[in-house]
Amino acid sequence: TWSAANIIDEQVEAIRKQVGDSKVICGLSGGVDSSVAALLVHKAVGDQLTCVFVDHGMMRQDEGEQVIRAFRDQFHVPLVAVDAEERFLERLKGVSEPEAKRKAIGAEFIRVFEEEAAKIGDAKFLVQGTLYSDVIESGGGTGAATIKSHHNVGGLPDDMEFQLVEPLRALFKDEVRAVGAELGLPEKFVWRQPFPGPGLAIRVVGGEATKERLDTLRAADFILQDEIRKAGLYRELWQSFCVLPDIRTVGVQGDERTYGYVVAIRAVTSDDAMTADWARLPYDLLEQIASRMINEIREVNRVVLDITSKPPGTIEWE
Ligand code: XMP
Repeated sequence: TWSAANIIDEQVEAIRKQVGDSKVICGLSGGVDSSVAALLVHKAVGDQLTCVFVDHGMMRQDEGEQVIRAFRDQFHVPLVAVDAEERFLERLKGVSEPEAKRKAIGAEFIRVFEEEAAKIGDAKFLVQGTLYSDVIESGGGTGAATIKSHHNVGGLPDDMEFQLVEPLRALFKDEVRAVGAELGLPEKFVWRQPFPGPGLAIRVVGGEATKERLDTLRAADFILQDEIRKAGLYRELWQSFCVLPDIRTVGVQGDERTYGYVVAIRAVTSDDAMTADWARLPYDLLEQIASRMINEIREVNRVVLDITSKPPGTIEWE
């Protein structure tokens, strides 16, 4: 019979067998898949594992700290946390086109990851949080080192000769969550909504992801998450996030004319991201979110709601 505890026992044994006494590295993103994969490997081979967390500056508020706190302080997993915000911002200068943003971030991610991997030295294995659904989507396969760029931060270079450790290959998302909970992973990680590798950069739409715009978006996103959690809706939504178009509109606050950013709220329900329905959030909740954003974020003077399902819209705007 299926139980999270059985899966853990099975995988721990399989990982030990595969890895022997070699070093293992894992790119940790803070998402549920890489988090659970990392914990399983750590349970199996302890400090033979080093996790690398690259903070590209496109994360949501406090997310980097949460990763460090959980993995380094709570689980005592050897963790290299790289604050690479400046490098990524530099790299994104003048880049507005969505695929160009993805490529720039992917390429920079690889560079940072390679640098850190070289410092760790002679790791033979790389942990990947590949799920059963990923295996199906990529047409079966044998676990060769092909990683879809869409689902990872750019993928990793072909000339990095790692063997992959993929302890979640047989699992569905809900099973991964159950395993994570059984391993003591904090609720915030277990239930985290999917978040794209390029992060907030592809939610600053139609323009360059500057520090200023990212900070504005991050502040809006934080309010949205906070209100959605308080309303008890977080787990029901496949994703909920904000988008910051590169335009400003006129408003009035007090007796002053303002010229500020528009924040769009995007919340969808979905089973697999292939199709999605826009979430019918309660009007009172929307009102509360909008007024908080406008009152708490100086740069924002207008909030709109995206009521497009997928298809015809995609979930992300870029
Ligand atoms: P779309 O926008 O295509 O998104 O409906 C489907 C799902 O994929 C996520 N997404 C990405 N994930 N890198 C990622 O790791 C990306 O470049 C990327 N683009 C979209 C999106 O958040 C949604 O869950």
